[in-house]
Amino acid sequence: QGFFAVSRLLAGKKALVTAGGTQEPLDPVRYLGNRSSGKMGFAVAEALREAGAQTILISAPTELSTPYGVRRIPIMTAQEMYDAVMSEFTDVDIVVKAAAVADYRPKASAEQKIKKDGTSRTLELVPNPDILAELGEKKEQQFLVGFAAETEKLYEHAQAKMQRKNVDMLVANDVTQPGAGFGSPTNIVSFLFPEGTRIDLPQMKKLEVARRLVQEIAERLREKE
Ligand code: CTP
Ligand code: CA
Repeated sequence: QGFFAVSRLLAGKKALVTAGGTQEPLDPVRYLGNRSSGKMGFAVAEALREAGAQTILISAPTELSTPYGVRRIPIMTAQEMYDAVMSEFTDVDIVVKAAAVADYRPKASAEQKIKKDGTSRTLELVPNPDILAELGEKKEQQFLVGFAAETEKLYEHAQAKMQRKNVDMLVANDVTQPGAGFGSPTNIVSFLFPEGTRIDLPQMKKLEVARRLVQEIAERLREKE
C-alpha cells in the first residue's frame, strides 16, 4: 500500500508531450522566441509518467530538468518539433501540445552574424506548419489535447481553436491574469470539450493542473474503450 498504491490510471499507455517555446534562428547568434518557460508542459509529462504512461517529451530549450522516467527529445525550431512529433505520433495514445510554437520563422537564417549599418530594416517571415492542426486531421486512436493561451475573448478563441484543430480537449488560459501563464509556477485554466462541457479550475500549481488534466484524459480514454 502507500506509495505503490498511487493510482496508475494510464499504465500501458504511451503519451507524447510538447513543451517550451520554439526558437527560430535569424543568424548564428540570434533567434525569434516567445515567453514560454516550458513549466506547464514539463508538469504534464511528469503527471503522465506518474500515472503510469510511457512518456516522451519533445521540448524546445528550457532551464528545466527532465522529469524522472521521461524520455526527452530536444528540438529548437517549429520545423524540428514538427519532424519529431510526426515520427513519434503513430503509436501513441495521448498527445498533449503544451508547446508555444512559433507561427512564423525568418525566411532565411544568415550564415554569418548580421552586421548593423545604422539603417532600418524589415524582416521577412514565412509561416511554420501548424502541428496540432495536422495531428487533428491525421488522428486515429490518439486522444489529442491542445492549449490556447489568449489575451482577450478567451472562451470564444479557445472554442474556435478546438474546432479548427479537431482536438478532444482544449486547455484555455488567459495569460494576462496574475498567477497564470508564462513563467508562473501556477496557472488558471479551463478545460473545454467538443461536446460543450467546460470545467473552470481555480489558481493551482502547474503540477496540480497537470494531474487534473491527466485524470480527465484517463476518464475520457476509458469511456472511449
Ligand atoms: N500549435 C501547433 N503548431 C503551430 C502553432 C500552434 O501545434 N504552428 C499548437 C500549440 O501547441 C497549442 C495550439 O496549437 O496547443 C494553440 O496554439 P495557439 O498559438 O494558441 O493557436 P494558433 O492556432 O497558433 O492561433 P493564434 O496564435 O493565431 O492565436
Ligand atoms: Ca500561435
